[in-house]
Amino acid sequence: MREPHQKSQHETTHFGFEDVPVSEKGGRVRDVFSSVAGSYDLMNDLMSMGLHRLWKSAFVGMVARRPGLRILDVAGGTGDIAFGIRDGARVGTQITVCDINPDMLNVGRSRAVDRGILVRDDGIRWVCGDAEVIPAADSSFDVYTIAFGMRNVTNIPAALAEARRVLRPGGQFLCLEFSRVVLPVIDQLYDRYSFSVLPWLGKQVARDEAAYRYLAESIRKFPDQAHYAEMIRYAGLDQVRVRNLSGGIAAIHGARRI
Ligand SMILES: C[S@@+](CC[C@H](N)C(=O)[O-])C[C@H]1O[C@@H](n2cnc3c(N)ncnc32)[C@H](O)[C@@H]1O
Repeated sequence: MREPHQKSQHETTHFGFEDVPVSEKGGRVRDVFSSVAGSYDLMNDLMSMGLHRLWKSAFVGMVARRPGLRILDVAGGTGDIAFGIRDGARVGTQITVCDINPDMLNVGRSRAVDRGILVRDDGIRWVCGDAEVIPAADSSFDVYTIAFGMRNVTNIPAALAEARRVLRPGGQFLCLEFSRVVLPVIDQLYDRYSFSVLPWLGKQVARDEAAYRYLAESIRKFPDQAHYAEMIRYAGLDQVRVRNLSGGIAAIHGARRI
């Protein structure tokens, strides 16, 4: 018997606008991030004209801050969220970054070294793992964060079920993701920008046009604010709240494990 969120390997899913077998999507996503890992941070600044920093700062500002919290940042990539949380964290806070891609983690580790952050009790742990099968025990974290990662996982309900599993009862769930623009004029401009400027920038800077076309397409395939909130509730998380950023270009979904 399969759980409702389990998918057969014969089913297809989307990789951007393309339909691909479920078994292929993870590998395709890994290739995208291995290809762009070295230029990922620069591209974020160029593509969003620095806006991603404001979104991430708003996101990090919503993370609980108490002494001794165990925080898991899934799909943490090159570490922006972990670094933000660590700045001003209370004593004894333990931060773990979990990402499926070793190349992104390696960039994150060297950024940590550049900042003088070591892998010790007061440092950041870097773990290679899949959001759908997190290598951690049940109820082992107080806070689960994921920024611009959920869009890339093959099976979102499975990843949400994992978020619930690793959170302790009462634990905080926070997700930052591209979402649906709610302002009509911005909507059209953003569409044009996404499908022309992003792939062009990707070609010039990251030498990978396809990776940035995937970015634009994957944003359009991600559920809108209300639908995603429903998926979070369905996974057994409670008190779901949504906060739009920049007219819904991005949105933060927050919830609690009951
Ligand atoms: C757009 S980056 C976001 C990185 C970082 N959170 C940030 O906000 O800058 C997406 C990250 O998700 C990771 N990722 C994709 N699929 C994943 C999965 N199934 N499990 C864990 N990480 C995944 C990628 O390797 C990549 O590092």
